[in-house]
Amino acid sequence: MNQNKRVLLIISGGIAAYKCLEVIRRLQDHNISCPTILTKAGAEFVTPLSVSALSGGKVFQDLFDLTDEQEMGHIRLSREADLVLVAPATADIMAKMASGQANDLATTALLATDKPVMVAPAMNPMMWQHPATQANLETLKERGVTIVGPESGDMACGEHGAGRFVEPAVLVSSVVSFLNQSQNLKGKTALVTAGPTREAIDPVRYISNHSSGKQGYAIAEALVSAGADVTLVSGPTKLAPPTGVNFVPINTADELLAASKAALPTDIAIFAAAVADYKVANAATQKIKKKDGKAPKLEFEANPDILATIASIKKGRPDLVIGFAAETENLIKNAQSKLKKKDCDWILANDVSEKTGTFGGDASEVHLVKSNANESWGHQSKQATARQLVEAIAQELKG
Ligand code: CTP
Repeated sequence: MNQNKRVLLIISGGIAAYKCLEVIRRLQDHNISCPTILTKAGAEFVTPLSVSALSGGKVFQDLFDLTDEQEMGHIRLSREADLVLVAPATADIMAKMASGQANDLATTALLATDKPVMVAPAMNPMMWQHPATQANLETLKERGVTIVGPESGDMACGEHGAGRFVEPAVLVSSVVSFLNQSQNLKGKTALVTAGPTREAIDPVRYISNHSSGKQGYAIAEALVSAGADVTLVSGPTKLAPPTGVNFVPINTADELLAASKAALPTDIAIFAAAVADYKVANAATQKIKKKDGKAPKLEFEANPDILATIASIKKGRPDLVIGFAAETENLIKNAQSKLKKKDCDWILANDVSEKTGTFGGDASEVHLVKSNANESWGHQSKQATARQLVEAIAQELKG
């Protein structure tokens, strides 16, 4: 990362504020300096001393601090950054941003900046779902603010739902890809499939798998950062769709195929979804009841192979069709035979044996397999794999 990159971090008040200390440290690993504004509420959760000890710089708190005004006015502070990052962003600061208030240093800097703004919300699930917060979110998105997260899960307040601050590593990856983006896929269109599918047994039960969708979402995000027009067709996940994608939610493999076909023609098609190979042929239309302890007999029939179907389209086939191979053994050999069998151009071969922690984890160990070559991309975050893939795609389409 370029030595001169600078992110103005605004820490607003919330229990997740302590996670920003890790964000600051990880940004520095990428040589990104991090001048910080700590709001009054933010200072209730982390001390200015701990922030400045990590950032190695002054922590700005007061709009009317004359020393700060002499050293670096609030306008200069916001203009000298390459990106303004609000993390964690409370419902309150999002509301202030949406309505253009400027009654403290943080909101003044946000109103005065001419730089891109990224927001990582963190709040109680009810506050997040409140129509007021959702309306503010839409306003911010319309103005081009990049939103990262929130994630779903158990909250510090004891409740469960969407509102959890994204993992610091994920946020830092988003910042790094944002700062690195080179728009080298501008004008290109892409289809990405992601997540698991769900195949009904009856109206309340289904068969699915452990796919988190993280790799597919990271790829969609990296493609958007590179300027591509992206359709993300996804089974149910806990992730928020990346900003800027055309998002198509689906449940079954049949729906995934229909939505993927509808997204064509595209220049690029990447199949990261973990599709159920079979669906229940005799799925019940009513909830199956227990019958004297007798287990119901399920019959299965094959699902369509979405990757193979689209790779074999004669007219309007995407220029680059990329599949994944999730393998627990004979990684390269199995990936090569999948490449041939499914008629795709590249396979990203993924070692999903338990020891790698790939399934559901934040990192993966990928090999790029082509018909005549293969290369290991090593163990890295799913965001890094996504960026490397986008770089490889851009090279391929250029040449
Ligand atoms: N795939 C697909 N439709 C299916 C099954 C798989 O589009 N019905 C795609 C996946 O998105 C992935 C690739 O095919 O890009 C390979 O998926 P994988 O699960 O590794 O392979 P399978 O074809 O399911 O083969 P197997 O389970 O025998 O390894």
